[in-house]
Amino acid sequence: MGAEEPSLRLFFALWPPNEVAQALHQLARRMAGQSGGRVMARDTLHLTLAFLGQVHTRRLAELRAAAEATPLPGAFDLTLDHLGYWRHKHLLWAGCTTPPTALATLARGLGETLRARGFSLEARPFHPHLTLLRKAAQPLAFEVPILPPWRVTELVLVSSRTTPQGPHYPRLERWALGSGGLLPT
Ligand code: 2AM
Repeated sequence: MGAEEPSLRLFFALWPPNEVAQALHQLARRMAGQSGGRVMARDTLHLTLAFLGQVHTRRLAELRAAAEATPLPGAFDLTLDHLGYWRHKHLLWAGCTTPPTALATLARGLGETLRARGFSLEARPFHPHLTLLRKAAQPLAFEVPILPPWRVTELVLVSSRTTPQGPHYPRLERWALGSGGLLPT
């Protein structure tokens, strides 16, 4: 990637509503009590569907077109009822015991459209998760409280910036599930 050409680190994601993010953030703070680590800020919590890495800003329009060409499932419910720990990444995350079919359909559809349009995606298999703690030790016990219901209604294109205060994730574009209509940002 030429140093002279502007680029952004980009990914497609699902963004939890405030009450879900708030409950997850509280859970992360409680878990940090036993695991240490860096608690993800409330408004950074998300579930990544497709990670693009650095993309030239001139390709943003193509990315929007790819999202609009992806067959989007209708709104669906996501029940976060599972906590996991990845030892190799020192990462504590929240996810679903049984992810809904629509989630995998959405991630697969997006991946296929993006690849067909020449975007290179990491080959990492899709493990739907929301990172709660980074640089954390393995917790001794997992407490999984009942979290508020998450009705997933939109797909978001996000950029990622690293700041001394931690990651910052401006949301660039939002599309309604089902209709694919562009939502105001
Ligand atoms: P993580 O929380 O498991 O680290 C912004 O960095 C988002 O993109 C995070 O959700 C992060 O997942 C994810 N991400 C970073 N690098 C990635 C990669 N190579 N493949 C897939 N997802 C990645």
